[in-house]
Amino acid sequence: MDKLESKDFMNITDLLNNAPDKEPERQYYFIDEAAKLISKKEQELGRKLTCCVTTFGCQMNARDSEKLLGILKKIGYVESTDENADFVIYNTCTVRENANNKVYGRLGILHNYKKKNKGMMIALCGCMMQEPTVVENLQEHYKFVDLIFGTHNIYKFAELFVTSFLNKKGTIIDIWKDTDKIVENLPIERKYSFKSGVNIMFGCNNFCTYCIVPYVRGRERSRTPEDIVKEIKDLVADGVVEVMLLGQNVNSYGIGLEEKTSFAKLLEMINDIEGLKRIRFMTPHPKDLSDELIDAMARLDKVCNHMHLPLQSGSTEILKKMNRRYTKEDYLVLVDKLRARIPDIAITTDIIVGFPGETEEDFLETIDVVEKVKYDSAFTFIYSKRTGTPAATMPNQVDDATVKDRFDRLLKLVQNNGHDKVRQFEGTVQEVLVEEVNEQDETLVTGKMTNNITVHFPGDKSLIGQIVKVKLNCCRGFYYIGEVIS
Ligand code: SAH
Ligand code: SF4
Ligand code: F3S
Repeated sequence: MDKLESKDFMNITDLLNNAPDKEPERQYYFIDEAAKLISKKEQELGRKLTCCVTTFGCQMNARDSEKLLGILKKIGYVESTDENADFVIYNTCTVRENANNKVYGRLGILHNYKKKNKGMMIALCGCMMQEPTVVENLQEHYKFVDLIFGTHNIYKFAELFVTSFLNKKGTIIDIWKDTDKIVENLPIERKYSFKSGVNIMFGCNNFCTYCIVPYVRGRERSRTPEDIVKEIKDLVADGVVEVMLLGQNVNSYGIGLEEKTSFAKLLEMINDIEGLKRIRFMTPHPKDLSDELIDAMARLDKVCNHMHLPLQSGSTEILKKMNRRYTKEDYLVLVDKLRARIPDIAITTDIIVGFPGETEEDFLETIDVVEKVKYDSAFTFIYSKRTGTPAATMPNQVDDATVKDRFDRLLKLVQNNGHDKVRQFEGTVQEVLVEEVNEQDETLVTGKMTNNITVHFPGDKSLIGQIVKVKLNCCRGFYYIGEVIS
């Protein structure tokens, strides 16, 4: 299939000239134009067109992908999980080197699909595209890619789609360095009917020395509490019972707002929304974890019993080099405060092993924190050098064998602790939000406790989205097998 002959349609210059300047009206104009193009294409082919949105990276990317899919469905595409589709978009991550490698590997497969389906369109967006060297590499070696855009102009997807669809040759590339804009109220296709991510802020100002996120996601921008509350009210009206408030550093929420609102205040406003049952958030930063927030978590009934509190390292020396702005002792005090106010709270974390200059003694400090805190679970990462970050050029990069050894020791400890923590609820009755029918066994459903522990129990899809009381009969490592108590 070839791309559309545009004689029946305005050309791209006319379209751009006729488009309204104001957002999001401009994007709705392009959605209408795209729908016309797709409808014509369907008639030519005698079938619907398929699209596949593949997400790499964090929950913020997952939420962005829901926005991309919302627009694709609105213009007439049918969603497919098969990447052999008419339109494929990779929403990329670049936080670690292996995230990039995955994308390059899979692009080769897409190229083969495209050779058989000439009209196939391939688009790339997300954090990796904010790196100039990546885009140069793509331009040189991946000429079959039709469209490349970044994190700051994702709201322009409909416009970029039309431009790319009508483009006869080469790749359309549109990358912005930064933005102060927040464009909202565009179509969104939620993955789950009963739960949703909600962006409360974008970007990051922290510049941890290992991390590329501030460079690819730009400066912190908070949405107004009014916009956030309105979005959640609309979601609740549409069947959502749980929200995950999203931001790279949620507890510094409010910077730059005309009327300063703390994250704790925001939680309070959201807790008042009728019909909403659960509030989660990710990710808080230890340096901004105020007593006000701990108090709000303890007080507000809808805020879940879970805190994901990234440690990164247990060594004060390394934390300083990481620019994390807390010490080992500060962190342990926070954990004590949390446990004192919210005894059942689950605490999870992120840890990096092998940061430049990390000695065995530094590593043992990390082990010490892990032993003291006894995390419910932890994501452990091997330090990945990101070009352009301060850590990339720091002396004493740790050799691979040492890092691997430390990583294995840490992982073992984290897993053993996790099992002990999870097991403490065995035999108790807990409220579980049912999320899906179990993938392996259709007679079971799978849900989450407020502290984020997974529970499987007999049930059917009619329970999805409901909070039910479940007796936790048997602990199997990181999850439970239970039964509903009526
Ligand atoms: N804003 C969040 C999460 C950012 S990325 C926070 O501050 O915690 C998620 C995790 O990836 C980080 O917590 C960190 O543990 C890990 N990470 C970030 N950059 C990394 C790098 N260069 N190498 C290895 N892990 C990294
Ligand atoms: Fe990266 Fe640090 Fe910002 Fe998290 S807080 S996104 S680790 S710079
Ligand atoms: Fe990755 Fe970007 Fe998230 S780099 S972790 S997808 S903010």
